[in-house]
Amino acid sequence: MKAIYVQIGGGYDKVVVGEAPAAAPQAGEITVRLRASSLNYHDFAVVSGMWGPSELRIPMADGAGEVVAVGEGVSEFAVGDSVVSTFFPEWLDGRPNVVGFATVPGDGLDGYAREVVTARATSFTRAPKGWSHAEAATLTTAGLTAWRALVDDGRVTAGDTVLVQGTGGVSIFALQFAKMLGATVIATSSSDAKLERLKALGADHLINYRQDPAWGETVQKLTAGRGVDHVIEVGGPATLEQSMIAARVGGHISVIGILTGVAGEFPIVTALVKQLRLQGVLVGNRRQQQDMVRAIDANGMHPVLDKHFALDAIVDAFRYQESNQHFGKIILDI
Ligand SMILES: NC(=O)c1ccc[n+]([C@@H]2O[C@H](COP(=O)([O-])OP(=O)(O)OC[C@H]3O[C@@H](n4cnc5c(N)ncnc54)[C@H](OP(=O)(O)O)[C@@H]3O)[C@@H](O)[C@H]2O)c1
Repeated sequence: MKAIYVQIGGGYDKVVVGEAPAAAPQAGEITVRLRASSLNYHDFAVVSGMWGPSELRIPMADGAGEVVAVGEGVSEFAVGDSVVSTFFPEWLDGRPNVVGFATVPGDGLDGYAREVVTARATSFTRAPKGWSHAEAATLTTAGLTAWRALVDDGRVTAGDTVLVQGTGGVSIFALQFAKMLGATVIATSSSDAKLERLKALGADHLINYRQDPAWGETVQKLTAGRGVDHVIEVGGPATLEQSMIAARVGGHISVIGILTGVAGEFPIVTALVKQLRLQGVLVGNRRQQQDMVRAIDANGMHPVLDKHFALDAIVDAFRYQESNQHFGKIILDI
């Protein structure tokens, strides 16, 4: 069965098509016919060579499809079930017990840019009811990161105000989940056209961060000087200071993204005087994914999908992601 491989070091010229057969499932395992994956910045880093693999690697952390065989002792899934992969197959529940990406499919382990895989049943969860495989494939990384940041770490409740940055996968999921939880959402983008689309998804206040570089102060004005309860911080060094200005006293900042770099100045005094809580986030665990799927079922939401690409066109898909034209999730159909 077909698979995409990234050769050592990564880079678009190191992406090749090959074969990856799947063994019959042993006890505790399932075999999944993968039907879709979705692109994340982290997958881009692996494939493009920014954080290229140290051995031949099948990329992509996100995978969704249907169960085609079930090993002995597996009672959670049956043949025909729609399932979606988990980001940390080793972190099933409880406090973080993982560091970095050594156990993450598509980075330290082979991922889901392939037609079929046999894996431990706990490497997957049920997909939301009525979702296509393409929709389900958006949950592993972007969906769960937003869910864990808002629900498990942020404890967002009705009436809170949440700030989301830009129109990537994590931020759009955060907007949708925050509205589901009854929060007010302030959303930023570099594009007025994209801001209109965020409004249609329920964003209450819109800021163009290119036209308004001091957007932290604008957020303070929009909240009558209170500031926001939670920030989904995906920008990194170029946005952290404005995020801290935008936050309320005692506010919560989910430190998630590195879109503008990996290191920068840290305004310690702002953190102290405002008594901010900054929480580093690395996606989430399997139990959180199960909670998220149940919440989606109960609320009937659907993710925002952008373009679809065929598995063989994976490099074109990443080039498109790099162009920042997308709004929501880019899909690989397998
Ligand atoms: N820690 C974790 O667990 C975790 C999990 C998932 C992702 N991430 C990280 O989170 C970040 C976002 O991931 P993603 O998959 O959502 O990426 P993505 O889909 O590629 O997001 C790209 C979007 O980010 C927005 N953006 C770029 N620069 C920005 C800036 N200076 N201020 C505000 N928005 C900006 C742009 O929105 P506009 O075009 O609207 O301006 C752009 O379209 C990445 O750094 C990724 O590595 C971390």
